[in-house]
Amino acid sequence: MILLITALSPMAGVTDRSFRKLCASMGADLTFTEMISVNGLVRKNRKTIAMLPEGEDKSVIQLFGNDPVIFAKAAEQVKDKSLWIDVNAACPVHKVTKRGYGSSLMRKPELLRDIVKAIVSTGSKVSVKIRIGWEDQKNFLDVAKAAAEGGAFLVTIHGRTVEQLYAGKADWTPAKILKENLKIKVGVSGDIFSPYDVVNAYRETNADYIFIARGAIGNPWIFKQSKDLLEKGEFSYPSFEEKRDIIKKHLEMEILEHDFRGIMIFRKFFVRYMKNLPDSHDLKEKIMRITDRDELEDLLDSYFGKLISCEQGGVEGGNTKG
Ligand SMILES: Cc1cc2nc3c(=O)[nH]c(=O)nc-3n(C[C@H](O)[C@H](O)[C@H](O)COP(=O)(O)O)c2cc1C
Repeated sequence: MILLITALSPMAGVTDRSFRKLCASMGADLTFTEMISVNGLVRKNRKTIAMLPEGEDKSVIQLFGNDPVIFAKAAEQVKDKSLWIDVNAACPVHKVTKRGYGSSLMRKPELLRDIVKAIVSTGSKVSVKIRIGWEDQKNFLDVAKAAAEGGAFLVTIHGRTVEQLYAGKADWTPAKILKENLKIKVGVSGDIFSPYDVVNAYRETNADYIFIARGAIGNPWIFKQSKDLLEKGEFSYPSFEEKRDIIKKHLEMEILEHDFRGIMIFRKFFVRYMKNLPDSHDLKEKIMRITDRDELEDLLDSYFGKLISCEQGGVEGGNTKG
């Protein structure tokens, strides 16, 4: 029995409740919240609280901060809503690192260890997300060891340095090195965009968890497709009908979650759903300006209606052998 565990990787501004629930319903084994401020949580900030999972059983809360005491308080506050607590030691954004949060924790492995210990002491399981390190200090192995010493059961590594941000090619070798050197579980993240990437990352690193980030935006089918590819050697693409239905379902979820802002929030997903679809340029332009849900659904129905009627023969449908 092959055990492939796929996760929707944490993404700020992307992995909201709607997208997490959608991916969970489409085969993701785990769905991570975007990084949530421990300070915001303990201050009971309304916007911070709204990021927490609600009615989800596959969700993991990712926290960021740099004070073990505050991490423990925040973890205590939210642990019932999460399978476990994930600590962000990977965010490369300057406004985050300059405050000592995110990947700046990779400069202080002892502090990271203490943060993990503090959360473990609340009775929660803990994982840590890291990068390869900084260009002058690629200390991922030491940092992962510190996390393990603190009691983390999983370290996930995004195979880029902090300075690389999201550019350049992700390197999966550090995940393999962690797997060879640590007794705890390992997750791999970076440039996993297709079912083939999922299976290759799994085979090349032997990682326990495969994290899909940008590759899931506009393509929540990737979770099931990856499992099919690994288990059956093939997978199928969604039909135009299925694509339309999922787009409409996702839109509805975003509107339910965010009210009138839901349409604006949905735009970034919509552009990605339309990637590689024929003659979608005009539709994308129009949809970027629409603020009315009915108008948007009418446009979608008319665009997909045409595609569905000429689908016989299956431009999108059909199987792909792995
Ligand atoms: C828009 C965006 C927001 C992200 N936010 C977070 C975050 O809040 N926490 C985190 O650990 N990683 C975050 N990431 C990193 C992703 O989880 C993932 O590790 C990274 O994008 C590499 O995977 P990919 O190359 O397959 O996209 C973010 C990435 C993107 C693109």
